[in-house]
Amino acid sequence: MNPPPIATREIARENQFNVVWTEELDEVFADVAPYYDRANYVASLGLWGWFLRRFMATVDIRPHERVLDVCAGTNAIGIALLEREPTLEVHAIDRSAEMQEVGKRRAAALGFHIESVIHDVHRLPFPDNHFDVVTLQFASRHLRVRRVFSEIYRVLKPGGRFAVSDVVSRGPVTDELRRDMALWVGCISGALDETDYAAKLRKAGFDGVSLETWREYDFSEGKFSSAFIRASKPAPQPCCGTECCR
Ligand SMILES: C[S@@+](CC[C@H](N)C(=O)[O-])C[C@H]1O[C@@H](n2cnc3c(N)ncnc32)[C@H](O)[C@@H]1O
Repeated sequence: MNPPPIATREIARENQFNVVWTEELDEVFADVAPYYDRANYVASLGLWGWFLRRFMATVDIRPHERVLDVCAGTNAIGIALLEREPTLEVHAIDRSAEMQEVGKRRAAALGFHIESVIHDVHRLPFPDNHFDVVTLQFASRHLRVRRVFSEIYRVLKPGGRFAVSDVVSRGPVTDELRRDMALWVGCISGALDETDYAAKLRKAGFDGVSLETWREYDFSEGKFSSAFIRASKPAPQPCCGTECCR
């Protein structure tokens, strides 16, 4: 019997990107770290700040909450979170010391502190039920997402929120486009299918999964969109009477 389509796509994705993920990624980000923020600014035609504010507006945060930014890079998200709510306790995790060095300097220059951990995010070095909010931006294509989603679920408190900003594909995409490494850098070729994204979040245990498309890209080789994705870890049910509390 053939494995279900989502599992088949996940295996194909792992086969295709395994070498990039395990052998090439660290060198790429070490090289790009000093230029990363300028490159984002130029690639977004100067709209990077506007774009971050738009993502931030979709993230439900409250004063004094503890937040983890996964694959934090140069701390664009951590800084945008603190600009919105300075009382947050923000933690950043990334495998690239070079990207985090730039990120720490950027945060310090603005008078913010972001607690940094250099670590692979397939195992999060934090206790269970620890964070109110976890964020992830433009990094899903680097990850074995099933593993990372279950780790994010583990470290979120019950009722905690997971907020993602990324490019997803919508329906079939040609193999040529999937293999195009130039488009991989631009978040396109390694993008996960939007249906798979939501299904994997639900499989990890999340509920309230929603995907808001805010921009569409229609290439002859496949359709893509920029999306804000939200999910939450179910909160404990309130006690309904004497029977269920025994
Ligand atoms: C495209 S950058 C995105 C950075 C940031 N989220 C942003 O939006 O600007 C991707 C980041 O993911 C990190 N990364 C990729 N795979 C990782 C892994 N397995 N563990 C930890 N960090 C990883 C890279 O080092 C890089 O800093």
